[in-house]
Amino acid sequence: MIAPPPAALQIAPDGGLQHLITLEGLSKEFLGAFFASADRYKMDGGGRPLAGKLFVNIFFESSTRTRAAFEAAAKQLGADVVNLDQITMSGETKQESLEDTVRTMAAMGAAGIALRHSEAGAAERAAKVAGEFGVALINGGVGCESHPTQGLTDAYTLREIAGEDFSPLSVAIVGDVLHSRVARSNLQILRALGAKDIRLAGPPELCPPDLRKELGAPVFADLDEALDGVDVVMLLRVQRERLRGAFYYAPEKYFADYGLDETRLAKLKKTAVVMHPGPINRGVEISDAVADGAQSLILRQVANGMAVRKAVLTMLCARR
Ligand code: CP
Repeated sequence: MIAPPPAALQIAPDGGLQHLITLEGLSKEFLGAFFASADRYKMDGGGRPLAGKLFVNIFFESSTRTRAAFEAAAKQLGADVVNLDQITMSGETKQESLEDTVRTMAAMGAAGIALRHSEAGAAERAAKVAGEFGVALINGGVGCESHPTQGLTDAYTLREIAGEDFSPLSVAIVGDVLHSRVARSNLQILRALGAKDIRLAGPPELCPPDLRKELGAPVFADLDEALDGVDVVMLLRVQRERLRGAFYYAPEKYFADYGLDETRLAKLKKTAVVMHPGPINRGVEISDAVADGAQSLILRQVANGMAVRKAVLTMLCARR
């Protein structure tokens, strides 16, 4: 049997979402309703709709924001939370498969699982097994392909500044686009919300010209050219752990060529905003003054990640 594409795999028989694997295929209408739900969680916390439920974080890669936000959001909604990571999982030392780890958590009664993994396709593999047990699988960042709750968080944050219609916005996504799951999820959601002018920029090793074809956006090697007239700068971390020595830029040179400092920021519109999914590398992608300045949305992204994950958890886990 041919495996269904991820966008189909995550749809429940009633047409709602069974899992959250990708933002691909989610409509502007769906996203509008989702953001209205996140607004309510932001306003009043959302009560305890997950009381008595079990939620599991399975993180095969490190994480500060995503794992902590899922854990804190699930606990605040009333759920019990189990965290599995590289150190605690049998799979790492005893060769238990991802699928068997998911089965084990399902047998313990999990209503939902968030998964972070380095391999493309891991979220689909886990979702197929989770679905057999009626467990919701949430992609907490997989491979270089997708990080849907970060995309939802970033779009939700931008919507607070720019409103519902992203069509007038010019957005530059800057840095290690090649390895960035955030860039791919953000491209999907920015387009779903109407954005047309999205530019990619970075050193050719990390933002090669081929990406124009793969991602359908213009690619700039010159950052100042890419930033001309933009409303939003989305900076990305240089993912040294995925480069295996293939990238030789010194941090100082990267900062000079592709970092956002006060001089570059001053050339942008006064209303331009700066985003970064974190973790940030100060003095590499961004200066202290810009990261901590008035145009930075970085901590607002983190704060909004709580409301967005509460909305995701309730949507997918409350009925199970
Ligand atoms: N943005 C993001 O995924 O951060 P973490 O790796 O800390 O979860």
